[in-house]
Amino acid sequence: MGQAVLILIKPDGLKKSLTGNILTRLSETKLEIVAAKMVRVSQTLAEEHYKHLKDKPFFGEIIKYLQGDLHDRKKVMALVYWGNNAITKCRDLAGATNPEEAESTSIRGSYGRITTNGVYENVVHVSSNVTEAEREIKLWFTPNEIIVDLYATKNVVQKEFPNKVWVTEA
Ligand code: CDP
Ligand code: MG
Repeated sequence: MGQAVLILIKPDGLKKSLTGNILTRLSETKLEIVAAKMVRVSQTLAEEHYKHLKDKPFFGEIIKYLQGDLHDRKKVMALVYWGNNAITKCRDLAGATNPEEAESTSIRGSYGRITTNGVYENVVHVSSNVTEAEREIKLWFTPNEIIVDLYATKNVVQKEFPNKVWVTEA
């Protein structure tokens, strides 16, 4: 069955120049990339993304981590992969949450580490199930940024909506 999954290359993955390696590993899944962009992560976006972990002692640290405060890299790469069993395929390839427990050939096993503060810097985020994938994809992307129709949409006319456009020569 076709499934969509949100992948984030987290700030440590970008700082360690792992983008190419991670995308190469993900290409083993033969899934299709249907959306991709660089994102500067606001505190609101980070907190909404990890809202299910709000009560955990490490919540504050992972918000800083996702925003790039720990790596001087204020960006993440966000992608949507689509295809058969996309979630299981990508999570298997990513490996366990704790990089020390992750299989050594997995992405997190190969490139992750645990900081002295105890944060699992595990270089990628992968949605954990279909419900979370839909919630996360709708949080990180607008319908127009995804090249296939994943979820129901509606047309709205936005009047007086401030929007940046390119300046062109007269
Ligand atoms: O990312 P994943 O779905 O595997 O795990 P999660 O339980 O949703 O946790 C989100 C993120 O919080 C993890 O990817 C880790 O970066 C971090 N985390 C941590 O630093 N220490 C923990 N004990 C659990 C999670
Ligand atoms: Mg998770």
